[in-house]
Amino acid sequence: MYIQLNAVIVDADENNRRELAGFLSQLGVQIVDQHDELQQLSGTLGKLESPSLVIVNLDPTPQETLRRIATLPRQYPNVNFFLMSQTIDPNLLIDAMHLGIKEFIPLPISQEKFSAAVERVASGAGMAKRARIIHVVSTIGGVGSTTVACNVAASLAKQAKTVLMDLDLVRGAVAGYFDLRPRFTIADVMDTAEKVDRMLLDNALTVHKNSNLAVLGRPEMPEDTQRVNATGVQRLLSILSRGFDFVVLDSIMSVDPIYAAAISAADVNVIVMQLNVPSAKNAERYCGALRRCGTDTNKIRLVVNRYVKKGGDIEPEEIEKAMGMKVNWLIPNDFKNAIGAINYGEPIVLRAPKSEIANSLVGLANSLSGRPAATEIAA
Ligand SMILES: Nc1ncnc2c1ncn2[C@@H]1O[C@H](COP(=O)(O)OP(=O)(O)OP(=O)(O)O)[C@@H](O)[C@H]1O
Ligand SMILES: [Mg+2]
Repeated sequence: MYIQLNAVIVDADENNRRELAGFLSQLGVQIVDQHDELQQLSGTLGKLESPSLVIVNLDPTPQETLRRIATLPRQYPNVNFFLMSQTIDPNLLIDAMHLGIKEFIPLPISQEKFSAAVERVASGAGMAKRARIIHVVSTIGGVGSTTVACNVAASLAKQAKTVLMDLDLVRGAVAGYFDLRPRFTIADVMDTAEKVDRMLLDNALTVHKNSNLAVLGRPEMPEDTQRVNATGVQRLLSILSRGFDFVVLDSIMSVDPIYAAAISAADVNVIVMQLNVPSAKNAERYCGALRRCGTDTNKIRLVVNRYVKKGGDIEPEEIEKAMGMKVNWLIPNDFKNAIGAINYGEPIVLRAPKSEIANSLVGLANSLSGRPAATEIAA
């Protein structure tokens, strides 16, 4: 199974090559070669594993370079050729079309259009992005976001291919929650020069047997978190979302580049809070930041954990009024089952499936899945 496109870049300008390689890599594309000269391309073409992309900058002599490419698209029908040029001459475009060129990209690149073109090729090769990315964020320490992320992920894993990634890079507890000791962690799949697909599938992900959930843990040594970066996370999310139906992230309240990458990749950002003032204040501050960063309100969900009828400092209605948005889910307080799951190393939805809290967590998973299911408030 392929989950990564291969690409070769041909561009005389080294800076252009580097920039394009970085951008493709964020899209989850593996750069297998970069050339400054068209001549070097034929050697690479024969060796390319499909599915693949060849991206050629025609400038500074577009007509001449196009002539030199002429026979290649027919010779290598499985390769998708993208041509780029600052010259948008209709004759050039028509000639390129006749040669069987897949896309003509006017320079400077529009990132949006370019990534849409890459996505079309990926979809054509059966590698469409299919996962729904669920980003679970805590508003204060101990609020229960890891409990939410782990149980939602374990619940979704029963219905569909699901991966859970620990983005609480230093303090994260996801692997322990499933009693797993992963050999590889998120820090090991950051190197953009590495081919990720086989390595990811064979090694880096650890599968929890009882739920079939794939887990990517945080680094064992806190200093290894220095290897984790926004580009790597973006690329990882792009690759995982081609291989899984759900990608769940156990995350923290941050807008640093790594977390900004997670926020923008997410289909839904789940803000886990409790009904107390510090948590509510942070939920409000974080929601404000999400909105200012351009996150659509319909991609934000408010989840109250440890809900007790009559007993919280604040009522859900007060939160809704202050924040101008609905509280989407209430998870009941059940310390016995919650701590039992952590101590035993098995999520509540598997260990105590009949409990009220498990029912609520399964309901939350369904409501976050984007599939038709109950969306009314539980608890
Ligand atoms: N609904 C609940 N009812 C009772 N206790 C809960 C509930 N959810 C979580 N807990 C308990 O709260 C504690 C913190 O839970 P958890 O580790 O999930 O929180 P967290 O927000 O991820 O914490 P951290 O800030 O350390 O990342 C644990 O002891 C857990 O058992
Ligand atoms: Mg946590």
